[in-house]
Formats: sequence, C-alpha cells, structure tokens
Amino acid sequence: MTKIVIVLIIAAVCAVNCQDLDWWEGGNFYQIYPRSYMDSNGDGIGDLQGIKSKLAYVKGLGMDGVWLSPIYKSPQADFGYDISDYRDINIEYGTLDDFNELIAECERLQLKLILDFVPNHTSDEHEWFLKSERNVSGYEDYYIWRDGKIDPYTNLLVPPTNWLSFFRYSAWRWSNIRKQFYLHQFHYKQPDLNYRSAKLVQEMKDVLSYWMHKGVAGFRIDIIVCLFETMYSDGSFPDEPIDNPNCDYNDPCYLNHIYTQDQNETYDMAYQWRELLDNFKIANGGDTRIMMTESYSSVEKAQRFYGDGDRKGSYVPFNFEIIKNLNQNSTAKDYKTVVDSWLDRMPKKTGIEANWVIGNHDQHRAASRLGVTRGDLLNILVQTMPGIAITYQGEELVMTNVHLSWEDTVDPQACNTHDPVNYESSSRDPARTPFPWDSTKNGGFSTADVTWLPAGTNYQTVNVKLQEEATNSHLKIFRRLTTIRKQPVFRQGTYTGILLNNENVFAYKREYGDQVAVVLLNFGTSQQSVNVASAFSGIPAQLKIYTSSLSSGMTNGAEVSSTNVNIGKDIGVVLLSSTVNAEY
Ligand code: NOJ
Repeated sequence: MTKIVIVLIIAAVCAVNCQDLDWWEGGNFYQIYPRSYMDSNGDGIGDLQGIKSKLAYVKGLGMDGVWLSPIYKSPQADFGYDISDYRDINIEYGTLDDFNELIAECERLQLKLILDFVPNHTSDEHEWFLKSERNVSGYEDYYIWRDGKIDPYTNLLVPPTNWLSFFRYSAWRWSNIRKQFYLHQFHYKQPDLNYRSAKLVQEMKDVLSYWMHKGVAGFRIDIIVCLFETMYSDGSFPDEPIDNPNCDYNDPCYLNHIYTQDQNETYDMAYQWRELLDNFKIANGGDTRIMMTESYSSVEKAQRFYGDGDRKGSYVPFNFEIIKNLNQNSTAKDYKTVVDSWLDRMPKKTGIEANWVIGNHDQHRAASRLGVTRGDLLNILVQTMPGIAITYQGEELVMTNVHLSWEDTVDPQACNTHDPVNYESSSRDPARTPFPWDSTKNGGFSTADVTWLPAGTNYQTVNVKLQEEATNSHLKIFRRLTTIRKQPVFRQGTYTGILLNNENVFAYKREYGDQVAVVLLNFGTSQQSVNVASAFSGIPAQLKIYTSSLSSGMTNGAEVSSTNVNIGKDIGVVLLSSTVNAEY
C-alpha cells in the first residue's frame, strides 16, 4: 500500500513538472552588440555599465536571455572577434568587476547571460600566438603553421595552399619571426587555432568552465564550421577547387570551401563542448547551460550540430535560412519553403527545438534586406513560429541600415575591398551603428562628440523614446508578441502551415488543447480576404485580433469572422480564439 502511495505521489509530481519546459525551450533571446548599445562614460564606445543600465529595457522586451557579442580583451581588429585574452574584459568595455555587476543585474532581472565564444582564432596579440610564433616549448602547434611552396613560374615563395580569407586575399600570412606561414581564415590579425593539439583543446574547455563559474548561462559559438581543415597524413593541405570563376579570385566566393569548412571533427568538438556544459551542471548545479552555433552551411550540415545518435550538441544551431535565401521580393511561397526546409529536416526528438533568426551584426538590417514595410510581419513570424526566437538589437524598432561614407567605414571586411564606390554591400557597419534610444545627440547612445561609428540621422525618426510615446509603434507590437508567445499555444502548440489566396498569404495555425492561434502573413501585392475557417480545421466562427502590423488599420481586440479576414499588402496579423488568455 505504501509503495502504491509513493508511486502515485511521484506520478503526480511528474504530471506537473515533466511538462514544465526548461528555461531555454521556446526561449526569447536578444543579441547585443556591446560597442553600440550604450556608452556610460562618454568615450563614444558602448560598454558593460551602459548595457547594465539598459537591461531593464531588455527585460521589458520580454526576453529570457541576452547574447553579448565578444566583450573580451581585444585589439579590435575585427571588433572583438580577435581576442587577446579570453579571461579578461576589453578595457573600452570595462573590467571584470563591471562584468560581475552585469551578471548580478541579469540575475536580479532573471535574464540569462550568453557570451560569444570565439574558438576558431585568437588575436595575433594573444600570448599563445606570441609564444607559438617564437616556437616556445609547449606552444609550437597551438596555431596552424606551414612552410610555403616555391612557385615554379616565378621561383618565389608562396603560401602552402590557395585558401582564401573570408575578408579576401590569401588565408596565409608569412611570419618573419617563425619563418613560416600561419593560417588565418579571417583577418591576418586573427590566426587560426589548431584543434589537433590536445593541449589547445583543453585550454579552450578551461575557458568555457571559467565563464560558467562566473555565472554565464551559455555560449554562442562563433564560426564553428572552420575549426578543422582537411589534412593529408604528411601534414600538408589540399588546394580548394574553384567554385565560381566569375568571382574575383581574391574573393572567398571564388573557391568551394570543401577542405576548410564543415569537417567531421568539427561536429565531434561541438558534442564534446556540449558534454562539458552538461557535466558542469551535474557537478555544480544551477540551470542548464546552453550553446548556440553559427553555421551558414546547408540545413543538413547546420542541423548536424543538434547532435548525432546519443551524442548531444547545440541547443540552437542558428537557422540562417531566411537570411541566406530571402529578400524584399520574396513571396509567401518562398517563406513557406524556407520555413519547411528547417522544420521538415529537424530531428524529431525531445530537447530539439527550431529557431528563427532574421538578422545579426554580420548582415545588413533585416528591414533593409527583407523590406521595411514588412518589418512587423517579420517580427510576427519570428515570435510566433514554434521554438526559439532571436532578435538582433534594433529589430524590435524595425531599424534600417545607417548609410556610412567610405571614410567612416571601419569594418575590415569592407575596408579590404579597397573600393570607395562599392564597399557598402560588403560592409557590416550599417547594422552596427549606435542604438537609438531617443532623439538627442547620437540618439542618446553617447555624450561624446565623436562615436566609434556615426549614429547617422535615422535615429531622429526611429528610436525607443518615440516608439514608447506613440499610441502604437513597432516596439509596442513587438512587446505584445513577446507577451503572447509565453502562452502554451505558442510555447507548446502544434504547428500547421499552408499557402492561401493564390499563394499570396502564408498562414499557420498553432493549437494547444482548446486554444487556437492563427497567423496570417500577406506577402502579396494587394489586399487579401482570407477564409481561415475553410483553410484549417477546428477554427471558431469568430476570432479576435491580438496584434497586427502598424499600418494594418486593424484594432486589437476586434472580433472578425473567421470566414473573412481582410489583410493588406505586407501586413501580418495574429488572431486568437477566445480560449487564449490574452489582454487586449
Ligand atoms: C563570425 C562573426 O559573427 C563575425 O562578426 C566575425 O567577423 C567572424 N565570425 C570572425 O570571428
């Protein structure tokens, strides 16, 4: 009898807790680019105290976690992605004490802090590189060093392979100290680390543990696809084949990167890091530490980071399919195809979630790429699809690119074009400008006369304060979305997607118990009258408008007949059954 009672008690506890989601499941994440978020000391550069002062805003956006682009000590050749000390803070951003304050504030606000982990390369000013370059014992193979080759035509010493840097030109650079070439898949000040060195692998694991002990909730893993290169048994590397002969031969698009990206060992390293994170939780307690992985490779390759068989991997292999495939002219069918391409291939296992991303610090602003009139529609999509939502700072305001002159351009990717006319398409600066808090000098970002990137003029019309004060705004729509997404119908509901109205409208239903939500996204060129009731089963006769694009002309809380919902061009709308617990 006692046994039965105990079993019943356990079952009852499980019935409550087992359905509980872990903190990251269905999570809402916000990416902060620290250099541009908030400057607390008036030097024109964002910093940790600045971020701390704005965390309440981030929390108010409805976020669960914040991912900070790199904050570590760095000469800033690639604005922080060139790290000279993994265990210290970039002096322009503050100190470790400031970091401790930041994490305490995150804890107070119940926001998880995710750091950027840059494992593929360090700065050439990192002490490991300085030692490796001088062949200091124990550090010789921390980086990828090779002799050059003699070009048979010119008789000159040339790099060991034809590999190209992401930032153009050869991915090899000669060191006059070591008298060898080192590999750098990005800037020459970002030498690639050698993951075939067991000592280096352990060093990097220790870095992860160091920050977990400081209280971070996980890591976004930078350019993970580049960790390994194909190597022959004699230690030499193969040349990469030409992929696109129409590209400039100095541009990475010229080659097919089959030997420098997506190697099998890379996935193994990701799974090892996952084990480290999981073991850290077992040993030290606390909440789950997560990892997010950056891969622009095919869906299949990006999704391999989720795990393999029993081995677990990334919680968030970034879904870059929208970024990679869509533009201002993309149709409802294009969007549905891209959405399906991720959902259909995803491993159907517990602990595996989809994720939705429309921009980051490496892309032009989402609204500029995908259509400014579609800004709210895009946020509706990101926030109402099943899984995790990721927002790059400013997307909540529907920020657009800030135009920067060649003289003001600092991104190495753009500077390396040496092209004062066509640099802008290569430049990442237009999406990295100071965050617009209000209409005052520098958009309220800094009191400095000169900021690291000019704030431009966009902030005079697009900023937080204006959108707070307006009766309705992109920001207010965004907050409604992040609020409703906490409801079970969005967190756990089923998803059914369909094309309607001659493929002008991408529509989907989310359903959980008796709760129903329908999202309509009109990518067509004219107004559409949608019959939701005939498109999906189980739709009540009346639905309520929860929120819609700013220019929709629709009223929150208004009831519509589910047989006839009228939505304008580029408009998105979220409709709810009366059973969903929502405030109107
Ligand atoms: C990807 C990062 O997102 C980008 O900003 C950086 O330049 C490269 N990796 C190199 O770290």
